[in-house]
Amino acid sequence: MATTSFDTRIGKDLETAVNLLKQDLVVAIPTETVYGLAGNALSEEAVNNIFSIKNRPLHNPLIIHIADLNRLPELVEEIPQAALLLLEKFSPGPLTVLLRKNNIVPNITNSGLTHVAIRLPRHPMALELLSLLPFPLAAPSANPFGYISPTSPQHVMSQLQGKIPYILDGGICERGIESTVVGFEGDIPVIYRLGAISIDDIRKVSPKMIIRDKDNVKPQSPGMLAHHYSPATKLILTDQPQILPEGFLPEETGWILFDQALPQYPSNNQIVLSAAGNLEEAAKNLYSALHELDARALRLIIAQRMPDIGLGKAINDRLERAAAK
Ligand code: TXA
Ligand code: MG
Repeated sequence: MATTSFDTRIGKDLETAVNLLKQDLVVAIPTETVYGLAGNALSEEAVNNIFSIKNRPLHNPLIIHIADLNRLPELVEEIPQAALLLLEKFSPGPLTVLLRKNNIVPNITNSGLTHVAIRLPRHPMALELLSLLPFPLAAPSANPFGYISPTSPQHVMSQLQGKIPYILDGGICERGIESTVVGFEGDIPVIYRLGAISIDDIRKVSPKMIIRDKDNVKPQSPGMLAHHYSPATKLILTDQPQILPEGFLPEETGWILFDQALPQYPSNNQIVLSAAGNLEEAAKNLYSALHELDARALRLIIAQRMPDIGLGKAINDRLERAAAK
């Protein structure tokens, strides 16, 4: 399978996607966060195909996508009260919960761990596709391992052309940054990956919680790997984007800025994520800005650190990992 070459097509035909998925093939699907590389979560062969197409290490577990909370008891042993509360508040949406899996889920899907990651995506096309299928979909972000996540069908095409038969076109992803991954210790939520639901939002539902981010000992979730979400171009993250490091010319530098361009540098090389200073809009535009600048022959991308509030924390998290080498 990994060596098969496909004539990759982009389209909106759910039937095509259903037929391919039923044959254990892999299809890129839209979600409200980023595009996913989807396959039958209960089929070892399909999941194996996902890992090999993405070139992802087998010890990095996948997220299972379902369309209906009623499907949860088939997949997991128990659902802590705190998980139910969060699911009721944020599903469908960019919340991923880690729950103790039962035997129906093959070990390859969650890398042999005790818990499996599950979410209900909010994108209408993803929900419709799931409702047409007799099985849930495992889907990591549809990028080769370690690279920038895709937020449009074209991003997927440029990274995975020839490797998958079909990209289901659901337009540009509304949220633009991955789901928040939450596990539970007893009834206390533990945040393993910052994401599209902010810590403040989760705190409103569950005032007690633990944030197990990169500063807290060893990474338990590979989304927490230091080097991840990376462009090929060297990237630095800074509070002072106007300072050009020695040895770099403005013409060979790109900028990702929060709300304002820098008048002293070429405007073509600058992408302002949200002129209105809105962090939701900045999150939505983040990966497409990285894709766009990375496609140019630049030597350096300078990313401005976002305000450390709300979604700004998740954006800074991704930019820090994109900057890590
Ligand atoms: O928004 C999203 O979550 C997107 C869309 C497609 O749903 N998916 C996504 O998947 O970002 P992926 O595979 O790129 O990231 C999944 C994250 C990784 O950080 C992984 O380590 C973590 O979830 N994860 C999955 N299963 C886990 C488990 N059993 N225990 C701990 N972390 C887990
Ligand atoms: Mg990913």
